[in-house]
Amino acid sequence: TWTMVNIVDEQVERIRAEVGTKRVICGLSGGVDSAVAGALVQRAVGNQLTCVFVDHGLLRKGEAEQVEKDFVAATGASLKVVDAQERFLAALAGVGDPEEKRKIIGREFIRVFEQAAREVVAEGGAAGEEVEFLVQGTLYPDVVESGGGTGTANIKSHHNVGGLPDDLQFTLVEPLRELFKDEVRRVGEELGLPTEMVWRQPFPGPGLGIRIIGEVTRERLDVLREADAIARQELTRAGLDRDIWQCPVVLLADVRSVGVQGDGRTYGHPVVLRPVSSEDAMTADWSRLPYDVLATISNRITNEVREINRVTLDVTSKPPGTIEWE
Ligand code: XMP
Repeated sequence: TWTMVNIVDEQVERIRAEVGTKRVICGLSGGVDSAVAGALVQRAVGNQLTCVFVDHGLLRKGEAEQVEKDFVAATGASLKVVDAQERFLAALAGVGDPEEKRKIIGREFIRVFEQAAREVVAEGGAAGEEVEFLVQGTLYPDVVESGGGTGTANIKSHHNVGGLPDDLQFTLVEPLRELFKDEVRRVGEELGLPTEMVWRQPFPGPGLGIRIIGEVTRERLDVLREADAIARQELTRAGLDRDIWQCPVVLLADVRSVGVQGDGRTYGHPVVLRPVSSEDAMTADWSRLPYDVLATISNRITNEVREINRVTLDVTSKPPGTIEWE
């Protein structure tokens, strides 16, 4: 942790020098990077920062609460929560096509965030300081991938916030630009962020919306959330979190099969477990999970989630299969 303390101190100094007395806004996604970036900026400039969390209703069980309660408790950050669940459900109603879902979720997200950012800007600071900075959780591999390289890692990017309109532009603060993922996690621990948040496995921006094959509805989201929570719990209990890259649980919402649960026949839905091992998500292999862990997950899901009467395992590598089903 000695080096982590140094990284935190160094970044805190840099952020202070960069931001001065201006105000800063940070969008939290529920993921590791935005949380750690936000926590660093909070440590540096305290109440000059306002965090914004758009709750689109597509996160996993407990994740919205983690942002709203645990992140705030750990950092003391001021947080604006936008409950946009109804709005996202309405926009997704009747849509089954994967690309269409992604487009809708991305579009709604930027609209809701834009509105929230305008409100934060309009509210102003105690002394009326303007909001000039936006925090982004860009990591070193992202910088390299986009051609930035080490030499430019300290250069601020101006007015290039994708998706926001021209009259609502910020200067970026990117305190994770020199860090790899494992370093980001250790900085997060150093800053006292919740363990589940810091060690969260990769999770797609469109969230559970692309893990429901078929239309996204509130009921289907609730069913998937429960099944997903059980799978995560059991994988954690079995000590497998660091062995597997991620394990999407996919609800085949338009497929039904006959089952027998309790006293009677049921006509429920299957879920697919998609545990994969990977280095970088470009290629992946299906994880050979122990049979007893699979059995426990299957028993618990079919016992505890009434709508699900079948648990199946995806044994496809990538390629040819992608990690997500949509
Ligand atoms: P695929 O399914 O393409 O996924 O093998 C590779 C990795 O990317 C994640 N993923 C996404 N992440 N927005 C994201 O932020 C997305 O739209 C998206 N789609 C896939 C996926 O979870 C896996 O880690």
